[in-house]
Amino acid sequence: MNVTVHGRTRHFRTVTFDVAANAVLLIEQRLLPHEFRIVPARDFRQTARAIKDMIVRGAGAIGATAAYGLAQGARAFRGRDLAKFLAHVETVYATLKAARPTAVDPVNAMNFVRAAMRAGETVEEQQALALATAEEFANEDVRHCEAIGQHGAKLIRSGMNVLTHCNAGWLAFVDIGSATAPMYAAQAQGRKFHVFCDETRPRSQGATLTAWELAQQKISHQVIADNAAGHLMQRGKIDLVIVGSDRTLGRTGEVANKIGTYTKAVLAARHGIPFYVAIPLSTIDWQIKSGFDIPIEERDESEVLGAWGMAGVAKSGARASRSPGRVYARVANPTSGALNPGFDVTPAELITGIITPAGILKPRELWGRRRELGG
Ligand code: MRU
Repeated sequence: MNVTVHGRTRHFRTVTFDVAANAVLLIEQRLLPHEFRIVPARDFRQTARAIKDMIVRGAGAIGATAAYGLAQGARAFRGRDLAKFLAHVETVYATLKAARPTAVDPVNAMNFVRAAMRAGETVEEQQALALATAEEFANEDVRHCEAIGQHGAKLIRSGMNVLTHCNAGWLAFVDIGSATAPMYAAQAQGRKFHVFCDETRPRSQGATLTAWELAQQKISHQVIADNAAGHLMQRGKIDLVIVGSDRTLGRTGEVANKIGTYTKAVLAARHGIPFYVAIPLSTIDWQIKSGFDIPIEERDESEVLGAWGMAGVAKSGARASRSPGRVYARVANPTSGALNPGFDVTPAELITGIITPAGILKPRELWGRRRELGG
């Protein structure tokens, strides 16, 4: 995606790898939209920490980060003892997997890398295969998002109002995004439409990340409070909903995504509005049999009890020279606690279609097409 910072436009990927430094390079997403900075994660523990602390977030992006993190950990091993190397790789795998539990992409990505590594007979060969396969995963993520865009663009007509939740944009992937891919493709085909970005409390990925991406891409948009969607739907102001997913069950078509997605799906069904989910194949879980078995991440209560923001930012985006930068403000009653589930599960019957790189499918069609979809 092209990013314009201080008048200069350059193409960036959300996640890349510095081979010489054996470092994973990440866009520091917690600073956006106020500051654009690339930061290195210098070893696999730092990479896991960057996923946990949400320097990088979004299912596809943390999938690619985990793939690079596995290669990074493997490449840091010194010695020729294959058994010791494999035990070390196991530790790297477990550390990265534990960073965030709901998205299945990191596990699918690391399984892809580990399977390819087995073709190597020496430590050195396995290390080289790990990096090459992590690059392959990242490139495939981009190709899948491109294909999602081509299939999904036909859903967006000029004049439409489209609602999206959280950030399933290029910041949530290596490039392009899943829910945003049809928007970018429709824009490239000359269509004019408007996007409502759910603010997406508690971390506000819609207000900060999706709004910034759409502004960068010059797509007409407005941020809405999470509670505004029902009202807008009732007044005929939303024509289509497109969201992403952190884990889509291949057996049932259920979709885990950012908390609040289920509410939007119920509202869309109530108002007869088509509700689509856009996913690359790495988001499909072919094992789990019920949405109730998906591990739902519980995050710190401070996210609900307050909010992060940038102090002293003018409407133009300029920061006052003496501004204290990123600050946390307590909003809730000081003596109250909070519950903070990060994701929810939307049942198949509320989903009009799943936009995959192989085309738009009904949620319950996934299982029947599992060979073609990599299951
Ligand atoms: O907690 P986050 O910001 O990682 O959650 C991201 C989402 O829920 C996205 O909608 C999801 O990852 C789908 S797009 C990759």
